[in-house]
Order: sequence, then structure tokens, then C-alpha cells
Amino acid sequence: MKAITVEPKIPGTARYMEMPEPDVRDGSVLVEAVAVGVCGTDVEIVEGKYGWAPPGQQYLILGHESLGRVIDPGPAGGLKKGDLVVGIVRRPDPVPCPNCAVGEWDMCRNGLYTERGIKEIHGFMSQRWRIEPEYAVKVDSALGILGVLLEPTTVVTKALEQIGMIGRRSFWEPRVVLVTGAGPIGLLAALSLKIHGIEEIHVLDRMESGSKPDLVRELGAIYHSGSVANLGFEPDAIVECTGVGQVISDCIQKVGPNGIVCLTGVGHGGVVTSAPTANVAAAAVLRNTVIVGSVNANKRHWYRAGQTLAKADKSWLAKLITRVERPENFMKALERQPDDIKVVIQFSDI
Ligand code: BGC
Repeated sequence: MKAITVEPKIPGTARYMEMPEPDVRDGSVLVEAVAVGVCGTDVEIVEGKYGWAPPGQQYLILGHESLGRVIDPGPAGGLKKGDLVVGIVRRPDPVPCPNCAVGEWDMCRNGLYTERGIKEIHGFMSQRWRIEPEYAVKVDSALGILGVLLEPTTVVTKALEQIGMIGRRSFWEPRVVLVTGAGPIGLLAALSLKIHGIEEIHVLDRMESGSKPDLVRELGAIYHSGSVANLGFEPDAIVECTGVGQVISDCIQKVGPNGIVCLTGVGHGGVVTSAPTANVAAAAVLRNTVIVGSVNANKRHWYRAGQTLAKADKSWLAKLITRVERPENFMKALERQPDDIKVVIQFSDI
């Protein structure tokens, strides 16, 4: 079978090449790939900045935003041939740490977790893949290719759960929430906030026109294209999805009293000299600000993310997939174009 692979940490090694059929030890459920979403993490892996091959192997099969069709459900019950499934990304560490022991692998404490398509286990950018039945999430067939949006929705679901849990340290009735960045994570965050019933949702991005402002407005949210510092209101919480230093520093200073800034974007460099750490920290101290990072998702978030997608307007969700590429053209899929929101590599027809 063919798969999109990299030799991790070596830039320029990505290729669509022949790989052995998936090993039965990878799981008793055999799946035919339908589509795989591309995200910033995949780009980083291809650039040689991130990613780990399975122990003793040269190649890592890329891809963690999956959607596939069951070819053989194996002996376990629950799935049948033809079901659409998405694979959970992270596996608990083998020790296991206290968090992995209770299924909260997204909060792994010893860093020995593994992640499909990212860290030490093959991903889903192959014509066929296998999965353990307990890590295969069945998606409603009515979603069709939109099921590929489940994984990014889980990341957002966890971030919003963190905000809610932290908020309840005191009286918490969030009314105004800001999302920075109108990429897939930012837009799915705005959608989830809307489904949670947040009254005033603001989304800020550097794009001044194009589909992002329209998508935000279609949700009934308010779009901004300036800087966070110039916004004329103080949000109760901010979901930061850009990873850009200046935006993060502005968010910490802009969030309202007792506010929460949840960081979901992974950026690099970007020393912000105009906002010395001590001043940012003083602003946080004097207003009880919480700055929290959020990564990955556990089964609870996968379940809730499925509920979010089921409640969403399908025609709105469909506009998030702005480009579909064939696996042979995977390099085109990895190159960002200005109007891209979610780019998907399609392996077979839905
Ligand atoms: C994935 C997460 C993963 C994280 C760090 C993200 O792109 O969506 O599942 O935990 O990268 O590797």
C-alpha cells in the first residue's frame, strides 16, 4: 500500500511511497482511508522540526486528523463493515503515569505517551490503517467527509472544558469570549462557544476579507481584523489560536478581571520586547488572570466533540474545508495558501 511518510527531523524527506500493509498488532480493526486533514503540526514534521518514527524504524507515516471506512471490524463488537471511523491520536504512556492510568492521556505527566502520525506510532496518511477498537470513534455517516473535522474539534473541546473548569474557581458566568485566529481551530472554537450558548463571541484574525469574516458572521459572532490591544472591550475569556508572541502578550493584558487566556497555538520565537514579562505578570496578578496551555484530548472530549459536530450546521462546516488534494499532490496540501482554512488529502471516495 502507499503512504505519505517522513524521516523525522530530516527536512525534505516527505514522500508518497510503498509501505508494508498495516500490522495486525496495530489493532484488530482494518480501515480504508477516506481523508486526512493537514495541520500546522504536519507542516512542522515535514520541515524536520518535530516528530518521531516508531522505535527502530526509519519512517513515520504522517497524519493524525483521520477519517476512514471500516473494511474489517475484527472480532470485537460495536463496529461493522462500512462504518465511518476516526482514530484517537494519543495513546497512554506504558508506565502509566497517574493521569494516563485514569484515561486522561492528554494530561500525561511523564512525556512517554505516543501519538499517531506524530510521536512513535504511524499515522493515518496511508491507503489502509489499523486501529484498536477502543480507539476508533464511530462518526455519523450523515457527516460524510466532514467527519475529518472531528480531531480538531476535540482539541477545541478540551480547551473550552479547561476554561470552564478554571472559571468555576469563583463565580463564573462568561458572557464575552474572544477567539484569536480564524483558522480551523479558531473557527471550531467559535462554533463550540456558540453551541455552548455564549452570548457575545468575537473572532480576531489578520485577514481583512475573504471567507473567514463571512464564516464568523454566519455564526452570529463579531469579526475583527485589527490588534487585540485596540479592542474596545475586555473579554471574560480568550481562546488564543495563533501562537504569535505579540497576540499572546496583548491577550494577557486585555482579558477582563478574573479572566482566562487559553493558549492552543504552538508558535516559535517571537520575543516581545514591548511587553516585559514582569509587567505582563503584574497585570495577571492584579486581575487574577489564568494563562493556561491546552493540548490534545481524551475520550470525554472526543465524545463531546462528536456532539458538537452533530449540532453544527453542515453547510457552514463544509465551508471550512477549502481545498481537497489527492495523496500524490501531498506537497501542495502542505503549502499554505492565503485562503486556506482546512486542507484535506482525500484517499478514497466517500
Ligand atoms: C494534535 C494533538 C497533539 C499535538 C502535539 C496537535 O496538532 O492535534 O493531538 O497532541 O499536536 O503533538
